[in-house]
Amino acid sequence: MTDMQSLGVIAVIGGTGSEGSGFAMRWARAGLDVIIGSRSSEKGQRVAAELRQKLGDVRLRGASNLEAAQMANVVVLSVPYESQEAIIESIKPGLAGKVMVTVVAPLLGEKKGRYTPAPGGSAAMEAQAQVGHETRVVAAFQNVSAHHLADPEHQIDCDVLVCGNKRADREIAVALAKAAGMRGVHAGALQNAAVVEGLTAVLISINAIYKTRNAGIRITGIDA
Ligand SMILES: NC(=O)c1ccc[n+]([C@@H]2O[C@H](COP(=O)([O-])OP(=O)(O)OC[C@H]3O[C@@H](n4cnc5c(N)ncnc54)[C@H](OP(=O)(O)O)[C@@H]3O)[C@@H](O)[C@H]2O)c1
Repeated sequence: MTDMQSLGVIAVIGGTGSEGSGFAMRWARAGLDVIIGSRSSEKGQRVAAELRQKLGDVRLRGASNLEAAQMANVVVLSVPYESQEAIIESIKPGLAGKVMVTVVAPLLGEKKGRYTPAPGGSAAMEAQAQVGHETRVVAAFQNVSAHHLADPEHQIDCDVLVCGNKRADREIAVALAKAAGMRGVHAGALQNAAVVEGLTAVLISINAIYKTRNAGIRITGIDA
């Protein structure tokens, strides 16, 4: 099991967005050292300052995406699927030897509640192919809505499925899930991320059908 304090510095690439800022806030509140990355370092610093004002005494700063990745021990990718390739290219010099946890859920086509797989199998598989073997990609948090993250006090009723090729790498995302107030569940190899990304479209459909924003997933039958 990875202990939270051994995670080191966490960079949230695209951490100015609704999903990334929600995680940054929760991780900083849990005592982690967090950097909000942005295409503009000024924007990253501004959003970090706004969150610090809200949270008080936390370790939370802003930087450009590349600087954030370079300074971090763990990199979290939280950008729209459409910009994933360009953003990964821009942070590549900061990724070698690290785990990159991707939150990206591709919602292709006009109807977001109808799953269309990413051409490379999944966004996570495409990310792994792009970064090469020196960086290990782990997929997690695709099924956690930004709506739930916004209030750091809110108890999120959702498990976090974690896919990655090595258990030790998945443990990092499991520890991040715990720090954000959720249970991380080992869900097998990175190849399985396609299913988890697909579940995001399923949850969007469920939310629309049941007129809610609260649909989440729970894994039963495991002792964890
Ligand atoms: N929102 C959710 O409820 C939710 C739930 C599960 C998974 N996700 C996944 O999490 C990722 C982030 O979601 P999000 O809702 O936070 O996305 P977002 O707000 O649209 O974008 C996040 C950040 O990405 C950066 N960015 C880079 N390229 C961009 C571009 N071409 N257009 C717009 N922004 C760009 C922006 O930061 P800078 O301008 O500072 O560079 C932006 O603040 C997505 O892949 C999404 O599928 C989201």
